[in-house]
Amino acid sequence: MSSTTLVIGGTGKTGRKVVQQLRALGEPVRIGSRRNSPPFDWENPATWPAALAGIDRLYVSFQPDLAVPGAAKAISDLTYLAVAGGVRKVVLLSGKGEQEAERCERIVADSGIPYTILRASWFSQNFSESFLMEPILSGTVALPKPEAPIPYVDTGDIAEVAVQSLLDDRHDGRIYELTGPRQLTFPEVVEEIAAATRRYIRYVPVPLEEYVEGLRNHDLPPDYVWLIGYLFGEVLGKPGNEDVSGDIERVLGRPARDFSDYVRETADSGIWNRVPSSS
Ligand SMILES: NC(=O)c1ccc[n+]([C@@H]2O[C@H](COP(=O)([O-])OP(=O)(O)OC[C@H]3O[C@@H](n4cnc5c(N)ncnc54)[C@H](OP(=O)(O)O)[C@@H]3O)[C@@H](O)[C@H]2O)c1
Repeated sequence: MSSTTLVIGGTGKTGRKVVQQLRALGEPVRIGSRRNSPPFDWENPATWPAALAGIDRLYVSFQPDLAVPGAAKAISDLTYLAVAGGVRKVVLLSGKGEQEAERCERIVADSGIPYTILRASWFSQNFSESFLMEPILSGTVALPKPEAPIPYVDTGDIAEVAVQSLLDDRHDGRIYELTGPRQLTFPEVVEEIAAATRRYIRYVPVPLEEYVEGLRNHDLPPDYVWLIGYLFGEVLGKPGNEDVSGDIERVLGRPARDFSDYVRETADSGIWNRVPSSS
């Protein structure tokens, strides 16, 4: 009997790789995205039933983050539809050290559907596919918390763990902490990327309040500004959040991908040597 997986966030940093890996295994996949047909839009719950129709497994990458106000209601409503529709497995992507996200994790865990929770550390790919790409291109990376160590995790590893969790019921009921094999601070990250790209890139420490104020002045959505303030202020640098976990190796039977491998591959692609777009 064939089982279809809905990958919510299936065009994003982890979801795209989950889709690729499932398809490579011959598993039927539906992409959960505002651009798909049927579309899936977190902002429009009327789109959810059609996206979930006929779905057996669910990978959930929420937007913008399970810690934001409103996330618990959305996860609760989605889970209700998943139960009603007979979904047999949910894999929820969460954030390591994000206490605010645990409410959403509990909703999924208490739903009665077999589940696996993936608490991921910061993605390495934030420096090439997200808000940290622009500063790298500009040559100045101005961020708070220069001393905070982060065990960056590769989105390919997260996707592999997600696929195993979706397909193998030995992962049911488990909460995995997904990190890379070592910690790096922002100055260390910038040094590695500068060396690999042979560019001059400098790290400039800024006070958290100044950084958040800067985001506000860029007219970014208030939810997004709150989230960045929360991640830098409450999550980053809190004791325990920087711990390296062996869960990727335990699940995949091989070490987690090192940040240097990500840097080498991304530098070779040439994207860090492009001229920054003027903003
Ligand atoms: N980035 C990190 O370091 C990190 C670390 C730990 C956990 N996480 C968690 O991972 C999740 C996603 O990570 P990310 O922020 O890095 O982004 P991402 O995976 O790159 O997400 C972008 C995806 O979200 C979809 N999306 C955006 N707005 C949407 C909406 N209104 N309705 C439906 N889909 C929407 C996009 O689809 P379309 O544009 O195609 O609709 C795209 O597939 C978040 O829950 C985050 O908390 C991230």
